[in-house]
Amino acid sequence: MQDFTGKLAVITGGASGVGRSLAFALGAQGARVLVADVDADGLERVQTDLGEQHIDSHTQYCDVSKPESVEALASRAFDELGGAHLVFANAGVSAGEAGNLWDYSPHDWQWTFGVNFWGPLNAINAFMPRLTAQGEEAHFIATSSGNGAFIVYPEQPIYSATKAAVAVVTEALHIQTRTQQSPVKVHLLFPGPHIVDTGIFDSDRVRPEEFEKPEGAPDTGIRTAEDLRKIMEFMGHELRLTHPDEVAQSAIDGVRNDQFWIAPMNPDTKEKIKARFDSILNQSEFPIPTLG
Ligand SMILES: NC(=O)c1ccc[n+]([C@@H]2O[C@H](COP(=O)([O-])OP(=O)(O)OC[C@H]3O[C@@H](n4cnc5c(N)ncnc54)[C@H](O)[C@@H]3O)[C@@H](O)[C@H]2O)c1
Repeated sequence: MQDFTGKLAVITGGASGVGRSLAFALGAQGARVLVADVDADGLERVQTDLGEQHIDSHTQYCDVSKPESVEALASRAFDELGGAHLVFANAGVSAGEAGNLWDYSPHDWQWTFGVNFWGPLNAINAFMPRLTAQGEEAHFIATSSGNGAFIVYPEQPIYSATKAAVAVVTEALHIQTRTQQSPVKVHLLFPGPHIVDTGIFDSDRVRPEEFEKPEGAPDTGIRTAEDLRKIMEFMGHELRLTHPDEVAQSAIDGVRNDQFWIAPMNPDTKEKIKARFDSILNQSEFPIPTLG
């Protein structure tokens, strides 16, 4: 798809970070946007800000972990707004894992899998039948992360597991739709090439009560990318950051170029991926990967 004019783009997790940048970037290309999120204040802010740019926008409260909530979003797009041609399953959280994996609270596992894995899966289930029936070129873009899909960092096993799972499901979806010569093209977005400066470090701001962290659970103390940068600096590593607008631009370019893997990558990441796959092929130990 080269021309986004008048096309409806649905973006989950669009009240902040990468999703918010996507809404502005797609809007600037003439798309209409339907922004969905659980952050009601953030939704209001994004709608006001998009309006100031004269972008045709709609917002909807949607909890991607709940199938009925995503179904309602799809119904809004198709029954009220004339159909969608771009769907970004982007919402994601990080539970702030700290300490030993066997001590993590089940709430951390359940919440993160609910949003990061069930979110995209609920979007596939709600949108794919409608996009397919529409019979026109359309794009479904799921957000994974190199953290999990390409490299297993020891610091965030829950997050990594969700992102590996969503990558596997999306790759299978891509193969199925390609085999069927479906008009719906599937893409897998890996925000980067560096850690992206967004609200993900403070995902607890939208953590539901039912999944609250147990009293006294270990805390990373990291709430912003800047907090992480300081810790990395203390450990002798430089942390480079990517702006979410850059991710939005690579997503748009990836859609235009029909790329399945939309994965801007820095040389260090490539080295780590290579080391991991070499260790698998050679059945040898691998260097312990460090974030950055
Ligand atoms: N920041 C990075 O370095 C990075 C790297 C790789 C992948 N990602 C992925 O990019 C995506 C966007 O994250 P971000 O970095 O912009 O973080 P962010 O916190 O700025 O944005 C995530 C948005 O998702 C929303 N959200 C959380 N739970 C939700 C739910 N149940 N239903 C609907 N919306 C919900 C949040 O309110 C927020 O607006 C996520 O999938 C994340 O895992 C981020």
